[in-house]
Amino acid sequence: MEFKQKHLLGIEPLSPSEITCILDLADKYVQLNRQANKHSNRLVSLTQINMFFENSTRTQASFEIAGKRLGADVMNMAMQASSIKKGETLIDTALTLNAMHPDLLVVRHPHSGAVDLLAQKVNCAVLNAGDGKHEHPTQALLDALTIRRSKGHIKGLNIAICGDIAHSRVARSNILLLRKMGNNIRLIGPPTLVPQGFSQYGCEIYDDMRAGLKDVDVVMMLRLQRERMDGGFIPSEREYYHRYGLNTEKLAYAKEDAIVMHPGPMNRGVEIDGTIADDINRSVIQEQVEMGVAVRMAAMDLLAQNLQKSRLQNPDSTNKKGVLV
Ligand code: CP
Repeated sequence: MEFKQKHLLGIEPLSPSEITCILDLADKYVQLNRQANKHSNRLVSLTQINMFFENSTRTQASFEIAGKRLGADVMNMAMQASSIKKGETLIDTALTLNAMHPDLLVVRHPHSGAVDLLAQKVNCAVLNAGDGKHEHPTQALLDALTIRRSKGHIKGLNIAICGDIAHSRVARSNILLLRKMGNNIRLIGPPTLVPQGFSQYGCEIYDDMRAGLKDVDVVMMLRLQRERMDGGFIPSEREYYHRYGLNTEKLAYAKEDAIVMHPGPMNRGVEIDGTIADDINRSVIQEQVEMGVAVRMAAMDLLAQNLQKSRLQNPDSTNKKGVLV
């Protein structure tokens, strides 16, 4: 099984076997991460730069931990304190960093497509840590690993993704991945947040939680992404919780062994009741965080192998100034 990608910009270009390849390697990193000595030398002598133009707790921390556990030199750019604030463009910033010969660039950006554009300007591996409403590939991969470990497989499952689908890169990447792997996807939420256009991805659409959750294996909750909303999409948070918030009564419609997921950050009492989020018999939210480190280790390991192969085949891919030729 071969992983052929140069970058990890989204789930869209990945084949099912490439997804399985990342998940299988991530499983090995889960074992390593549970040992006292968590270190490996897979990325020794490589430089990883993390550029987060949007806030993050889980993704930023886990990419940093992942790189350090694999032995990379990891640098976190403080974007708020960078020359972007003086008017430097994203591309000029990328070219500047590229001239310092990084090997892995991890980028989160508020605009859809920005990470893809940046990847065209640099000669290292680029990982998308979330771009606008477009994709968040490592989130979908860690969700897939969590589901596979919990259910024993990731095919033929009924999976409900609930809430603000319209503004969610997590939903988009998960829909793409889970459909590629042969699962049935139900999208549940108010019509303002679940556009009918999503049926083109082969998903069933529901605006009633009880009908949508009936007999599902997995319940994935999403927060309202207000930072990407340009108007009012719900009457009030109280009304939203009443109709779409996951509580014990609504969860009872899912299968008895259904797991509850949330990519975080959570808004307790808005999209999910705190008692369900904390119920260790149903909620796998902390497992998702754990899988995040392992999946990011696997993705960077595989991309670094491809980068090194490509550099051996094309030793002159940069000139002496480190500028693309
Ligand atoms: N799930 C996720 O992307 O969380 P952060 O915004 O905290 O990275």
